[in-house]
Amino acid sequence: MRHKNTGDTGLKEQIFQKIDKTPTKAISFADFMELALYEPDLGYYSQPGRVIGRQSGDFYTSVSVGKCFGLLLGYAIEAEWEKNGSPGTWLIVEQGAHDGQLAFDILDGLKNRGSSLLDHLSYHVIEAHQARRDFLIARIEDSDHSERVKVANTAGEVQNPQQKSTAGIFLCNELVDAFPVHRITLKNSQWQEIWVKQGGTPSGFEISYQEITNPDLLAEASRLNKEEFPENYTTEINLAMHPWLDSIRNLFADQGGHFWIIDYGHLEEQYYSPERREGTLRCYHQHRASDDPFVMPGECDITAHVNFTRLADYAQQAGLQCQTLQDQHDFLTHAAKSWLLGMEAEQKTQEQDNKKLLRQFQTLTHPGMMGRAFKVLKLQSSGADRI
Ligand SMILES: C[S@@+](CC[C@H](N)C(=O)[O-])C[C@H]1O[C@@H](n2cnc3c(N)ncnc32)[C@H](O)[C@@H]1O
Repeated sequence: MRHKNTGDTGLKEQIFQKIDKTPTKAISFADFMELALYEPDLGYYSQPGRVIGRQSGDFYTSVSVGKCFGLLLGYAIEAEWEKNGSPGTWLIVEQGAHDGQLAFDILDGLKNRGSSLLDHLSYHVIEAHQARRDFLIARIEDSDHSERVKVANTAGEVQNPQQKSTAGIFLCNELVDAFPVHRITLKNSQWQEIWVKQGGTPSGFEISYQEITNPDLLAEASRLNKEEFPENYTTEINLAMHPWLDSIRNLFADQGGHFWIIDYGHLEEQYYSPERREGTLRCYHQHRASDDPFVMPGECDITAHVNFTRLADYAQQAGLQCQTLQDQHDFLTHAAKSWLLGMEAEQKTQEQDNKKLLRQFQTLTHPGMMGRAFKVLKLQSSGADRI
């Protein structure tokens, strides 16, 4: 149901009710973001028809730019497979696949150029949310890749005993920026947590500042030296990265697992730069950015940049080794070498399809577009402390 002129889908009412049922009549910002994005049926990503892209979406991603991203990831995956001795079975595990487009683009790319990797490949998509899982399953069934792509509920489901002895690559594009984050603000020289309650504002939501009681959040906040930040400085802390890494660390055989995490974000120094007084939280609706998450919950995306330094720390704590952090320009330009050279050698750069792919390549790699803001963190299973 849609409540006239308010941009309200009914989710607001549901969140109000949840707030009302708590003893303190308030929920943490992370809980609010979880409801706004993932509440069954009503959350932004829980609506199966949710489209990402330039035309009818609210924002675009490297995947929605076009098939070039998947094509080049296919080259990079194939190179990694060969570097690992071309094992007989190779898994790709993707999380945050949304509508499965990246899987199709990777597999189409490999198929079109007759890659022998296809004979050894199985592709698993991890999707925790029921409605999105049902949508994905239906879309995969309708595709050319229904035999090869499987949908799992959790990382644990992918880890069946046979596959556990298998090597491969985990990948995700713009997954971590969609994890619910906690928000903290410096008030009277103390870090306080932002909570959400009902109030007399136009949106009906009001924020309050509370003493931090969550021990994990407290530990993260106390890493930030209060002396270095101005009063009212607000920032995000993504606690969900830690349990998530724990859930995927054992997907592959010892030494045989690679993890490519692609997202926009900063190293810690830039992330917590004193000038970034309002943090990195952004909302997107019809390609317009705002910093007010309360106006249209369920109808706008809410996202926060990734702190790659902290993500790498957590990865190491989870027993994964950090290999490299590259920007998307360097990663894709390297992956594209044989594609570009082959096209030039065969004088095919002026063919319509290739011209289209080359335009996409430009968008993905240009430093002023997606080339610098997006980064690729590569991790590897160390095997040292596997369960
Ligand atoms: C910003 S979208 C990116 C979609 C796609 N990867 C792309 O690049 O176009 C984030 C996606 O991550 C999904 N997501 C968030 N948390 C997830 C989780 N724990 N497991 C699986 N998917 C998740 C959301 O449902 C959404 O589809």
